[in-house]
Amino acid sequence: MALSFTRTRCDRTPAWAQLQAHFAASGSALDVRDAFASDAQRFARLSQEAPHVFADLSKNRIDATTEALLLDLARQSGLEAHRDAMFAGEKINHTEGRAVWHVLLRHPNKQPNWPVEQAQQAGAAIENIAIELPKVHATLDAMLAYAEAVRADESITDIVNIGIGGSDLGPQMAVLALQSFAHAGKRLHFVSNVDGHELAAVLPQLKAANTLFLIASKTFTTIETMTNARSAKAWFAAQGGTDVARHFAALTTNVAAAAEFGISTTFPFWDWVGGRYSLWSAIGLPVAIAIGAAGFRDLLAGAHAMDEHFRSAPLERNLPVRLGLLDVWYRNFHGFTSRSIAPYHSALRRVPAYLQQLEMESNGKRVDGQGQALPFDTSPVLWGEPGTNGQHAYFQMLHQGTDIVPVEFIAVKKPRHDLASHHSQLLANVLAQAQALMVGKSDAGGHKHFTGNRPSTFLLLDDLTPASLGALIALQEHRVFVTGSLWGINSFDQWGVELGKVLAKDIEPRLTSGDATGLDASTAGLLARLR
Ligand code: F6P
Repeated sequence: MALSFTRTRCDRTPAWAQLQAHFAASGSALDVRDAFASDAQRFARLSQEAPHVFADLSKNRIDATTEALLLDLARQSGLEAHRDAMFAGEKINHTEGRAVWHVLLRHPNKQPNWPVEQAQQAGAAIENIAIELPKVHATLDAMLAYAEAVRADESITDIVNIGIGGSDLGPQMAVLALQSFAHAGKRLHFVSNVDGHELAAVLPQLKAANTLFLIASKTFTTIETMTNARSAKAWFAAQGGTDVARHFAALTTNVAAAAEFGISTTFPFWDWVGGRYSLWSAIGLPVAIAIGAAGFRDLLAGAHAMDEHFRSAPLERNLPVRLGLLDVWYRNFHGFTSRSIAPYHSALRRVPAYLQQLEMESNGKRVDGQGQALPFDTSPVLWGEPGTNGQHAYFQMLHQGTDIVPVEFIAVKKPRHDLASHHSQLLANVLAQAQALMVGKSDAGGHKHFTGNRPSTFLLLDDLTPASLGALIALQEHRVFVTGSLWGINSFDQWGVELGKVLAKDIEPRLTSGDATGLDASTAGLLARLR
């Protein structure tokens, strides 16, 4: 399949060797405290506004040379053309032959100002905007009308989203994050795990007549979701429920499978929406029910503003690009293995889990786009908890442990409660943690010594709203695109999750039969104990 662009894997660019030399000469030893002391403009230079997000990168182990070389790396690897190909709807997910077009889901209903000529001239396979955009908006309008009808229907008090991975993490994260915008009369439940404890804990809280089940699955074949959906349907029938069309809706690209399952109320999306990028599609229906149609449109608008920033801001002031380049610097030069996400807002508590799928399922790959083993490291481990809770758990290790873990703080200026003293304590803590990591404490020896020079990035929202959340999430999506693009991998497939699914299918009947033929000794031994 023809593509309109050429990517040069980052380690094959001249800038890569220059970065290695720079790292050896001064980059590895850079002390951020000295960098501040010698550059009064450091904060101004290394912080920036992007739509809805202010970012301070100044506490990171970079200087002007590092930034300049990383920008060269981006240019030499062909990042911009790759990005433009994504916007043009080119089938850049080449191992699945699909476009990667979540940006279209948040584009207003007017012809995008995206450069498609390059792809057309190169004869690349591209999606047709004139056909797809009207479909996107027709579905969005129908889904939002449905969300409003559910909101207005007082008889529906409980909405249960049944889905897993991208069909759970995004909507769950966003519903929690936007709880201060949520309809008070609707309880939202999320059931993802095939572990029956989850569904079994939710069902007793429900009355069939007052419940709407949303079966969210891009493929409508995912075993966990199908198992939970079948059990929910059986429970509904056992409670005397008959009107499946009213009490079940499907959010899927596989409308035929949903119909076969017996669901006629369906909101579709398309194969060019990746599961972990599907919050903006029909998969967002629980969010739309929680915050309403206008709120959901604001979420899309915030993401779209970040898309425009990513597409058009010069690389040196392009926040997703700067964050992605920093990630490459830390992973491939410093060798840092993880990044800790520290949202200082309890409503953002599912953001770390959401980002785990986004980044680790996208970039947790050991081969490049041509299937060649990579000679460098890819996705770091992402992990984290809301602050200040994390401070009383694992921050000890962040401050005094042997590993350096870059921290990404996310703070929100304006609270949506009126317990003013709490918020100033929260903000004081987030500032203090970032400061302590960097400044350290050298006037005491031994156990009380803090080495400092521990890097962190600070993302600041004025207010946590649908629009700012949309922008924050789109920022993270694009930053993952940047690192995956430089690494030369396909960030949009996930073959690594397949093997376990196949093996589980083989093992399940063995739990009944006890047949251990062909199993390794450990699996056979555990199987015997589990029977
Ligand atoms: O197994 C991984 C995965 O395919 C994710 O990429 C996806 O988000 C999740 O499963 C759920 O898939 P589906 O929406 O098709 O049920």
